[in-house]
Amino acid sequence: MRGLFRRKPLDSDENSPKQLNRSLGALDLIGLAIGAVIGAGIFGAVGTAAAGEVSGGEVIRVGAGPALVFSFLLLGVACAFCALCYAELAAMIPTAGSAYAYAYATLGEIVAWIIGWDLILEYAVGNIAVAISWANYMNSLFEQLGLHLPPWLTHGYGDVVQQAEAGNSQMQALLSEAPRIGPFPLLVNLPAFLIVAAITGILLLGAKESATVNNIMVLIKLLALGLFIVMGVPHIRPEYYVPFFPNGWKGIWQGAAIVFFAYIGFDAISTAAEETKNPQRNLPIGILGGLGICTLIYVATGLVLTGLAPWNQLNQHGDPLAFALEHAGLPVASGLVSAGAVISTAAVLLVFQYGQPRILFAMARDGLLPERIARLHPKRRIPSTLITITGAFVGIAASLADDDATYDLTNIGTLFAFFIVCIGVLILRVIEPLRPRPFRVPAVWLFAPAGALSCLFIMAGLPAAAWRRFGLWLLVGLIIYFAYGMRHSKLRFSSNGSPCAPTS
Ligand code: ALA
Repeated sequence: MRGLFRRKPLDSDENSPKQLNRSLGALDLIGLAIGAVIGAGIFGAVGTAAAGEVSGGEVIRVGAGPALVFSFLLLGVACAFCALCYAELAAMIPTAGSAYAYAYATLGEIVAWIIGWDLILEYAVGNIAVAISWANYMNSLFEQLGLHLPPWLTHGYGDVVQQAEAGNSQMQALLSEAPRIGPFPLLVNLPAFLIVAAITGILLLGAKESATVNNIMVLIKLLALGLFIVMGVPHIRPEYYVPFFPNGWKGIWQGAAIVFFAYIGFDAISTAAEETKNPQRNLPIGILGGLGICTLIYVATGLVLTGLAPWNQLNQHGDPLAFALEHAGLPVASGLVSAGAVISTAAVLLVFQYGQPRILFAMARDGLLPERIARLHPKRRIPSTLITITGAFVGIAASLADDDATYDLTNIGTLFAFFIVCIGVLILRVIEPLRPRPFRVPAVWLFAPAGALSCLFIMAGLPAAAWRRFGLWLLVGLIIYFAYGMRHSKLRFSSNGSPCAPTS
């Protein structure tokens, strides 16, 4: 039992022969943060957050309406608490693995495993939803250009089944008319698969090249949202702001629980800690700078969006920003913003496909996953096997799955990881008080508990189905840990670990 809570000494990776190449600076990190944050959440999930969701006559959640702007502010404050905690740990433990590595150093092996397993929800499962969303935007752009792909090549099987069961007659027809392989209908979201394959190829070129590609995408996505705001403001109709709080506080809260997806990602750059130059200075700048910029943009976007169209119509389309501009009589701006959405969601895919292999790399290096998958490319020093495995998993799942459930599952998993990070900072302050901290959370005994409680509060706003799926995911993870990780853990067989007493 003591071995389960064995903690990894903070500097134990420094002399490992498996070291990544340090090539990223502060601006690269801010770029990576914005690249991860602005995407499917603000271009897609925002519509559901404003309007709410009803399925088969049952209210899944109520919408925030124009008060959506308060959902963003609430999330901005909550994420700032968590970002400060991430910054302290990322600067102190500048190693690949993010919250997984922090948990290993503070809370012990089994908690670290749970977090590493949980982060798959944030990174890989989140990217399944983002890839499907990218494909939806791409398909509507194709349609506008007069290019029509057959529907069985643009809808995944899971998506079609889910919509057919909800009574969508087009999808019911597609299910029976699609080409078949034996008894199985052939329904594949080909664009979703292809974008993941392309992103995986870029990542295999190496970290620095990928950050450069990302910086270009970030510029374009800032232009797209800037265009939405500048073109939209003169067309705001104040009557759409009445009532401003159609579902009161409950709407703001449940809206926040969905649109939290739009904030996921500022933490992703901590997974690049081991490839960052001067991480003690650059990581806090990257994390907090990226979060601050995104919060400002979201508040402005939310205000303009709910001023351009009636709030309760904003979930009727997969691309609410483009719909709002169209509704306001701005079709050209609408097309441009759609193109921006395609690029923005591709940038999100890039950062998460970048982060996931590095977390798995850290876990495999520790022996909790088979070590041979952590092989580095001999020249580029990148975890090429894991990049390929992640690409295959996300690409195949995105080509077949339905995105609805993945948003909630991603949110709950990510909030849980944030919660552990906030608690981890406090534990480390107690058990390692003298350890150098290049960045310290101010008023830590106020801000870290505030961050942890905010996470629990937002999690409570998610539907019961998300909690059930999350519980199941953790159960599967624990079975794998006891069957494999616990037996192969490197720390277990070294004299390095510290079973329960603090490391010195
Ligand atoms: N925050 C990212 C997005 O909205 C995950 O797509």
